[in-house]
Amino acid sequence: MLKILVIHGPNLNLLGTREPEIYGKMTLKDINGLLQKEARLKNANIKAVQTNSESEIITQLQKARGKFDGIIINPAAYTHYSYAIYDTVLAVGIPTIEVHLSNIYKREEFRRKSVIAPACVGQICGFGYRSYLLALNVLLDILKEKK
Ligand code: DQA
Repeated sequence: MLKILVIHGPNLNLLGTREPEIYGKMTLKDINGLLQKEARLKNANIKAVQTNSESEIITQLQKARGKFDGIIINPAAYTHYSYAIYDTVLAVGIPTIEVHLSNIYKREEFRRKSVIAPACVGQICGFGYRSYLLALNVLLDILKEKK
């Protein structure tokens, strides 16, 4: 059974009430529930974590080695400037997909660049909670192909 780690970065614990016109009305619990359901259908296993701390994201990525086959990460604001997370994704070497609820390319200038995406298999953004479901499906497909 494939094991996927989902990492939600800072402020994503506020989903549901945080700028719903941008991030949608679903809570993080709702999104994690949908991911669990989809994973079960696809015979995969998911662990989802949320943290507001860059250091904790790095620790979670490091600890994923040998435990998870793939990673889905929404680094939230760290997307735009965390070379530390970029380095960790590369160092850990687990296939990783970067996800965003909003389309970061049609927002403020500072959001239009991801420093982490170049370390990832790919990036999915702009589809609200569906970005996560798309990421899960594509990641499972890629991992199954590799087996
Ligand atoms: C986000 C986009 C980031 O720019 C922002 O800082 C977030 C959420 C998204 O999912 O759309 O916190 O990653």
